[in-house]
Amino acid sequence: MKFPKDFLFGAASASYQVEGAWNEDGKGLSNWDVFSKIPGKTFEGTNGDVAVDHYHRYKEDIKLMAEMGLESYRFSISWPRIIPNGVGEVNQKGLEFYNNVIDECLKYGIVPFVTLYHWDLPQVLEEKGGWTNKETVDAFVKYAEVCFNAFGDRVKHWITFNETVVFCALGYLAGAHPPAIVGDGKKYFQATHNVFTAHARSIELYKSLKQYGEIGITHVFSPAFSVDENPENIEATMHAREVDTHWYYDPILKGEYPEYVVKHIEKLGFTPDWTEEELAVIKRAADKNDFIGLNYYQPQRVMKNDVSEEVERTRENSTGAPGNPSFDGVYKTVMMDDKKYTKWGWEISPEGFLAGLRLLKERYGDVKMYITENGLGDEDPIIEDEIVDIPRIKYIEEHLSAVKMAIQEGINMKGYYAWSVIDLLSWLNGYKKQYGFIYVDHKNNLERKKKASFHWYKNVIETRGEEL
Ligand code: BG6
Repeated sequence: MKFPKDFLFGAASASYQVEGAWNEDGKGLSNWDVFSKIPGKTFEGTNGDVAVDHYHRYKEDIKLMAEMGLESYRFSISWPRIIPNGVGEVNQKGLEFYNNVIDECLKYGIVPFVTLYHWDLPQVLEEKGGWTNKETVDAFVKYAEVCFNAFGDRVKHWITFNETVVFCALGYLAGAHPPAIVGDGKKYFQATHNVFTAHARSIELYKSLKQYGEIGITHVFSPAFSVDENPENIEATMHAREVDTHWYYDPILKGEYPEYVVKHIEKLGFTPDWTEEELAVIKRAADKNDFIGLNYYQPQRVMKNDVSEEVERTRENSTGAPGNPSFDGVYKTVMMDDKKYTKWGWEISPEGFLAGLRLLKERYGDVKMYITENGLGDEDPIIEDEIVDIPRIKYIEEHLSAVKMAIQEGINMKGYYAWSVIDLLSWLNGYKKQYGFIYVDHKNNLERKKKASFHWYKNVIETRGEEL
């Protein structure tokens, strides 16, 4: 089978991870500009001041994407580049940059798929309470409006937020992302609710502008499976699905919060401060939400949490690798002897991917989906100057095959975006953990080089995945 004609083969990036130019052309400070400079917060103190200098090299990068045959490029807009103080004055130079990126994509027939928020919040807003403050919701909707008006004539695919669970959980529970708060369940749930409200209000706004594009959100997709048949572990897994998946997907796709979690967090005293109007807009927006974007890297292997002492959260085990008990201590995620893992301890499981997609279909029906991220973080082997990232090829091949099977089963999947189009800055793992089709030589003036996977993906796109 070839992938359907309207299926988009793409790849992705995010502003902070590629752009650099952190203080150029009127850009304001982001929370990451500040957080990454606090000693000990990131791997070897890396930050996005220069990143891979996409801000100055976007033409070269997009040309390479075109050469690879990429049909769509998912990138994010840096809010503080557009509105340096979070609210108020718009930075014309910021608009100009994204206009240029969009036009450059269109020149080659590459569909721009734009994320409004991939974690770089204007620092001014972070200092006022960030996502726990409802003023951030108002500010986001205005920022979204500026972007729709400036770019909406050419951008027809919008993602409001990238991975709410990550920036909220790492920001308010694990303390590994800004604002580096540890163990505050109340703030965590408040932040998630505010994000869902901002998403819903932006959708209503977008639809009222009649730009006739599509808009949705991107979530982490990390389906939970029990480690065994033990009823206690199965029960823990059901709980994990509720708090980790349904809490995030239900408000977007059903327009309401899952009752199970609402009751659970009420007992814990974590119920967000929500108004009837906010709940109503979330309800209304669900019908207008066009798609859900899924970022899949790995499933969760779940068991009942029977250890009393807290596992110490280190930077490494708070960015994806199993090993932590849940925020409420009910379950924990574990590594299993019979599973395969990456060098960073992330499980490799295309089977878990497909099984998870079936679960989604079961709960949410025929919703339109895109895989907005999927890929392998690795230290790529270099042999005689060639980057032979064969493990990445294998990883993507297996996962794209799972997507193909999903489509054959009638799952409404419309595109696949590999993470990432080019090697970029990992938030907490520096440049060591590579994901791209294009290599960036940090010892040689950030020179770009095609990896083996570049040629492989080009062929997949040309043949529309027929050989997979
Ligand atoms: C996703 C993010 O969570 O995972 C990306 O959307 C990120 O921005 C990617 O880079 C990989 O994470 P890491 O920690 O391996 O760099």
